[in-house]
Amino acid sequence: MAREIIKVNVKVGRVDALTVRSDLLAVGVFSEGRAGAFCKALDARLGGAIAKVRELGDFKGKVGTTALLYGNEEIGARRVLLVGLGERKEASVDGVRRAAICAAGQAVNLKAASCVLALHADLAAGKFDAETLGQVLCEGACFGAYRYDEFVTETEDPRSEELNITIAEPDGVRSRKLAKGARVGDVIGQSQNFARTIMNRPANVINPPSLATLAKQLAKDTPGLTCTVLDEKQIKAKKMGGLMAVGQGSANKPRLIMLKYTPAGKAATRGKTVGLVGKAITFDSGGISLKPGAGMQDMKFDKSGGVAVLGAMKAIAGLKPKVQVYGIIPSAENMPGGMSYRPGDIVTTYSGKTVEIQNTDAEGRMILCDAIHHAVKLECDVIVDIATLTGACVVALGEGLAGVMSHNDKLVERIKAAAESSGEKVWRLPCGAEYLELMKSKIADLKNIGGKWAGACTAAAFLGEFAGDVDWAHIDMAGTGMVDGEKKFGCPGSIGFGVRLLTTFVVNSSKRKK
Ligand code: BES
Ligand code: MN
Ligand code: ZN
Repeated sequence: MAREIIKVNVKVGRVDALTVRSDLLAVGVFSEGRAGAFCKALDARLGGAIAKVRELGDFKGKVGTTALLYGNEEIGARRVLLVGLGERKEASVDGVRRAAICAAGQAVNLKAASCVLALHADLAAGKFDAETLGQVLCEGACFGAYRYDEFVTETEDPRSEELNITIAEPDGVRSRKLAKGARVGDVIGQSQNFARTIMNRPANVINPPSLATLAKQLAKDTPGLTCTVLDEKQIKAKKMGGLMAVGQGSANKPRLIMLKYTPAGKAATRGKTVGLVGKAITFDSGGISLKPGAGMQDMKFDKSGGVAVLGAMKAIAGLKPKVQVYGIIPSAENMPGGMSYRPGDIVTTYSGKTVEIQNTDAEGRMILCDAIHHAVKLECDVIVDIATLTGACVVALGEGLAGVMSHNDKLVERIKAAAESSGEKVWRLPCGAEYLELMKSKIADLKNIGGKWAGACTAAAFLGEFAGDVDWAHIDMAGTGMVDGEKKFGCPGSIGFGVRLLTTFVVNSSKRKK
């Protein structure tokens, strides 16, 4: 590879943001009302420059917007970035995370080597706890500084190799709490960026065998994680017919990647075992039911569910929750050719259920059904699968929210709670009996596509059949997995959706009573 991704170091400093030296000082500004104490003090030193920008209407404090000012002898920073926090009464942790993303993104654009965050300085201390703030500031800083440029060898405008970010907090008690949260945020933020790089890599670099090699390397480098991989012969021998069928048309043979996180100490066996299952189609051409050419390049992102599981496993191993977790990643390349599976084929899946193939482009469910059954066999107590599964989900929910489907209301609530605090949003869609009905075949147990309508729901109903009696939920991240991050976050390519959501879900699960 041409180069490493940008190295982001975030720490909490017991310093005064007004006087500490830096290339850039980022300050949070609300869209209405009076300025907070920190903002006022800064404005006074800048001779009223902040008030002027606001007065002219050049900057309104809206979420996702920034304005750049320049420092003087009165302050330590060479530049000041005003970062919108939106309306004060609507202030949320996700808004603070978003502000940190903007700040770090601009720091990279400006080639700053050092950046001081005072985004939290004027937030009501009572409303947000400092630990959470430290976490989201750190997550946002990592996220915002990320650029995918490992294959760029010629540029007139090289970025810096490293960015040092300091969360400024003069108060001792608060700074310790911020630092505690920042350690969590750093693990999650770095794991998410790790996942983004793999998601962004093209299909001539990431294929099932190379993804498996990467997963093995991750486990080797990470205490608490182990990795086992089944190759195509073992997949066939185990009669994982779904994964085999999808993978057989490609020269890059399928793999079943299994990661396991075991917490250290006696607590290991207590609590429930979580199974995370992620779809990793390294390229989805549609197979014999070939997709149209326009936009097909985006189907390199069809591995994003599996890679989100990989990133979450990395984060989980770093955070060390007291719960056992399996990360199961079925991986195949869906290609047309003389060896491909065909419409009309009847496939016997790992569970023994037979499936009539009506469209080879509905391949995700064919690899997930075997992986979900595998999770059942491993005696997982709860299974959450995540996949860029259906265009129908994008039609229903767009690119900002993922779909969540389950027969279990309580599990949906737990996933919604994780979505709320991680800022990776979900919306529930149904997957009940009326949808399962549409997946019944006349010549096999199931077929792999439903009718014309409710494609996200029929796909989920299909998957639910393979979870048996185990608590199961499905996350369809087709929209959030393929969305281009440039518009909202200023960085083209994957937003690494799912890493924060799954990690938060697992950490929350570890705190539950059995
Ligand atoms: N990977 C696609 C789903 C997808 C489509 C994700 C567009 C993101 C954007 C999946 O394998 C697929 O092709 N699904 C088909 C299913 C259909 C044949 C029932 C779809 O959604 O069109
Ligand atoms: Mn497909
Ligand atoms: Zn697909």
